[in-house]
Amino acid sequence: MIRTVQATRYALPLREGGSLPGLVEADDLGFYVVKFRGAGQGPLALVAELVAGEIGRRLGLAVPELVFVEVDPALGRNDPDAEIRHLLKASVGLNLGLDYLPGSIMFDREAGDTASAEVASMAIWFDAFVQNVDRTARNPNLLVWHRSLHFIDQGAALYFHHNWQSAASKAESPFPEVAKHLLLPWASAIPAAAAKAKSLLDTDALREILALVPDEWIESGERSAQERRNDYLEYLTRRLSASANFEEEAIRSHDRLL
Ligand SMILES: Nc1ncnc2c1ncn2[C@@H]1O[C@H](COP(=O)(O)OP(=O)(O)O)[C@@H](O)[C@H]1O
Ligand SMILES: [Mg+2]
Repeated sequence: MIRTVQATRYALPLREGGSLPGLVEADDLGFYVVKFRGAGQGPLALVAELVAGEIGRRLGLAVPELVFVEVDPALGRNDPDAEIRHLLKASVGLNLGLDYLPGSIMFDREAGDTASAEVASMAIWFDAFVQNVDRTARNPNLLVWHRSLHFIDQGAALYFHHNWQSAASKAESPFPEVAKHLLLPWASAIPAAAAKAKSLLDTDALREILALVPDEWIESGERSAQERRNDYLEYLTRRLSASANFEEEAIRSHDRLL
């Protein structure tokens, strides 16, 4: 279940990548980092954040709680920044929020941050499965908070959904981009992580996660929301059955570092 909260205050922009997330206070008095539907990358970035994020959680990785954030037309109407006013106006309705982790800091290997073999190996499996290229030393999207690693910014995952025509050919791909994954050096237990991942994730689990996606984020003239959910399910089920391809690639990439 994903909770729905009402945005009550746009507090601060968090410009890092291109998605213009903002720190928002909500009616439950919580603070959330919100990915806006009206941002340049469109609603599919929110779909990726939600679907990949919940897959990560299923795998036992720490992903901040995800909530739907309802934006009404009054939010930020008087913000001095025109770009923010436009963004909020284009985002009236449902958006996606991540629980804000106060005092968290970005993972930095140079500063001595490390990961356990268990978490690093599962992270490798996770990002290879959802095809997320945004977990590199330059762009970690990994927060250290209360001494554990928290996975944020899954918005670039599932990139096949930007082009369904060519999607079929990518479901079984080995994901060579894993070579640049910032946790690869610690990922010495990929076979164990893979076995665990496949015990936690199956077609039913994927179907449950896809059922969380709001219709208005995925329906198009071409496909109804339910047809689209089935497209995702088919793709991800195929990727799961071909997981040996990306598991072998990840193990080879890790061994090359030794
Ligand atoms: N849940 C969170 N708690 C604390 N800070 C966060 C959280 N989510 C994002 N941030 C901060 O906001 C920045 C931008 O968020 P991110 O999701 O990476 O979007 P993008 O890279 O598209 O701008 C992050 O690099 C991080 O510093
Ligand atoms: Mg980011």
